[in-house]
Amino acid sequence: MQIVRISDISRHVGKQVTIQGWVANVRSSGKIVFLQLRDGSAGILQAVVTMAVANKEVSYWQTAELLTIESSLQVVGKVKAEPRAPGGFELEVSDLKLVHRAGEYPIGKKEHGPDFLLNNRHLWLRSARQAAIMRVRDSIIWALREFFRNEGFVMTDTPILTPTSCEGTTTLFETNYFDEKAYLSQSGQLYLEALCMALGKVYDFGPTFRAEKSKTRRHLTEFWMLDAEMAFYDLDASIDLQERMIVYVIRRVLAEREADLALLKRDIAPLQKVQAPFIRMTYEEALGELKKLGSDIEWGTDLGNDDETLITKAHDRPIFITRYPAAIKAFYMKPDPEDEKLALCADMLAPEGYGEVIGGSQRIDDFALLEARIKESRLKREDFEWYLDLRRYGSVPHSGFGIGLERTVAWLCGLDHVRETIPFPRMINRLRP
Ligand code: 4AD
Ligand code: MG
Repeated sequence: MQIVRISDISRHVGKQVTIQGWVANVRSSGKIVFLQLRDGSAGILQAVVTMAVANKEVSYWQTAELLTIESSLQVVGKVKAEPRAPGGFELEVSDLKLVHRAGEYPIGKKEHGPDFLLNNRHLWLRSARQAAIMRVRDSIIWALREFFRNEGFVMTDTPILTPTSCEGTTTLFETNYFDEKAYLSQSGQLYLEALCMALGKVYDFGPTFRAEKSKTRRHLTEFWMLDAEMAFYDLDASIDLQERMIVYVIRRVLAEREADLALLKRDIAPLQKVQAPFIRMTYEEALGELKKLGSDIEWGTDLGNDDETLITKAHDRPIFITRYPAAIKAFYMKPDPEDEKLALCADMLAPEGYGEVIGGSQRIDDFALLEARIKESRLKREDFEWYLDLRRYGSVPHSGFGIGLERTVAWLCGLDHVRETIPFPRMINRLRP
């Protein structure tokens, strides 16, 4: 008895196979019951149960009614090509064993609101769309890891419980750490800077946390970030690397997840257009363009969600916006030697309105300047003594960036909200299930 996954069914035409899965749908017509089976792999398999089979009194089988939606079962049958069936194959069932009969399933074919679906996220994940998104997410993660391995990076890990902030104190999640306060990591960057002085090129990939009080389609309170940090890289070298990374990931996802993207009705033409070189413009130039597009953004303010949407819809490739005003960026960013008001930083905005997916910069490598920035930012000096050490002992120019996984998933899947990009989303008003 060969257990076969539905995604591999085309290789078993004419053979007897066993499928283990769940009933995605069931309908009967006269003496035939049509089951739509899913088994977690990509695709749906139509299984045909004829009364003749049913009447053989194979232990379990009485009526089609027994096989409720989401009941789990094991079926044996012969695979045949059937152009009219979804996926193009059909199983002629010769044996069927009900593993568990599901109660009335709360998620039906009718439209449910997002709150209902999110409350039932543990079940919603079984839907074809949600499973497709999770498979694309899986491919993005593997592609990123492969990319960095090919580039000679060392994969490493940074702590989640930390004594300080990395990206500003307003979005910190605080927790008790025995007798003192600790915060959930907003980004592994600062620790990664230490690791890059030990290992040259490093990355981490893990959950990060921000107490984002805003309700937007781009913000989660718990999200996954890959931070990369490279010794002896300036901002331009880092941007070149990011560009190669994005092209690599998209190529892999298009190759591996064609069926899932089709199921998601993702138009892949815009993804195919994501080729190097991406667009590079300064903050100043972006402001000029935004004003022409009707934005009322003022110099010195960050791009809002609407600005990001506006500017990325005007281009068909990702945009690196460089050299933001230092005052609106993090304390560790190196000032532009040509204009100290600006930071040597770059955000990568994804096209089609998706907006910021990557944030990165060249870091301050000068001890005195970093010391001054820590003071100006009113950060506790003693907590950053170790970070200052990196500028005491063999400091080098270095750069890095962080890419948000969920925003990347939303972009590649063509979703309009990040809540569907992570198995169990955490947002301002959602901690459950
Ligand atoms: O731009 P950010 O804040 O950069 C950093 O944290 C740097 N320390 C990274 C580094 O240089 N190593 O965050 C990086 C990315 C954003 O571009 C975005 O994709 C994602 O993380 N991100 C979020 N994704 C979902 N929900 C949120 N609340 C996010 N905040 C940031
Ligand atoms: Mg950012």
